[in-house]
Amino acid sequence: MGGPCRRRGAVVSTFAQAYGHAPELAWRAPGRINVIGEHTDYNDGFVLPAALPQTVTARVARRSDDLVRVCSAQVPGPPVEVRIDAIAPGAVPGAAAYATGVLGELRDRGMAVTGVDIHLDGDVPRGAGLSSSAALECAVAGALDSLWGLGLDARALVDVARRAENVYVGVPCGVMDQAAAVLSRAGHLLLLDTRDMTTRHIPFDPAAFGLELLVIDTRAPHRLVDGEYARRREQCARASELLGVAALRDVQPDELPGALPRLEPVLARRTRHVVTENARVRGTVALLDAGEDPRRVGPLLTAAHRSLRDDFEVSCAELDTAVASALAAGAYGARMIGGGFGGSALALVDADRRAAVVAAVRAGAEQAALPEPAFLTAQPSAGAGACPC
Ligand code: GLA
Repeated sequence: MGGPCRRRGAVVSTFAQAYGHAPELAWRAPGRINVIGEHTDYNDGFVLPAALPQTVTARVARRSDDLVRVCSAQVPGPPVEVRIDAIAPGAVPGAAAYATGVLGELRDRGMAVTGVDIHLDGDVPRGAGLSSSAALECAVAGALDSLWGLGLDARALVDVARRAENVYVGVPCGVMDQAAAVLSRAGHLLLLDTRDMTTRHIPFDPAAFGLELLVIDTRAPHRLVDGEYARRREQCARASELLGVAALRDVQPDELPGALPRLEPVLARRTRHVVTENARVRGTVALLDAGEDPRRVGPLLTAAHRSLRDDFEVSCAELDTAVASALAAGAYGARMIGGGFGGSALALVDADRRAAVVAAVRAGAEQAALPEPAFLTAQPSAGAGACPC
């Protein structure tokens, strides 16, 4: 945990410039990729994310009144201000709602929260499906826990951050993004069982095998993401009800032939995705545990993409094009990551083939008249922690 704060990207203000005094302390939390296990977290299933080196830093200082002020180095303009009692779902505009939502959630838990100045600064690409919002929530939750000595452990921080997003921002997300931001370890993937929140850190060093996890930010504009995400959740809940299980996690792959005919076609497809995706997480972990060449994980990634595209129906032209181009250029596997309908794809590539894959993905997007993608390398990094101001 911890380490120096990074200050890359377009920094337009500091805490002192915004508020005229110094911060008391700072926490930073990372964005994430997800190697495999998509749309499984709200089905009590398994996920295998890793933290990115890109982070959001929250600098904070107590106030003597009940005013909460939030500003960001990446968002020009004066701080957003709200009194603690006035924090409510939908009451705070823009990205500040993620920060004030954390305050609201702590207040709702009966914790002694007071006024505070918060300054945010980060380099997690926003709108790229790399969980910049979870990074923000977790950085704020950790900073406020330290500031007020609330004594929250890592799992409580995850829970506070997730509830802030569910209740105060109104996004019905699962727990993966906040868990990845808090519980990840450098050089490891995070295997999380979302039913009981147990974790295992699985060593993963792509560079040792001459490999790279290439992230392709498709820059696809968001389309109805929230509504579609909520609909997928409802469909999964309905399918588990019809099948008489607590969650789709309880359906095993060899039970699918008996289970799917009991569901209407759409619910059957959603169920098949979740059940096979959980199996792919287990398959990935088995390969890595056995010390196999990670290239062997590639086909599981590509199978996950097909399942997300055809059965769960959360992909889009930009993601499909990026995945197809990366595979055609020699990627061992590629898939969309995160909620879908835009955002990023992940490709497992030989490090010395990176430039060729990048060129092919760019050319593929251009040919299809899609936005020019952006690229970054996912180096499994540390979870959230305190950092110097
Ligand atoms: C989003 C949500 C996560 C998870 C993924 C899909 O990132 O925030 O909780 O459901 O989509 O795997």
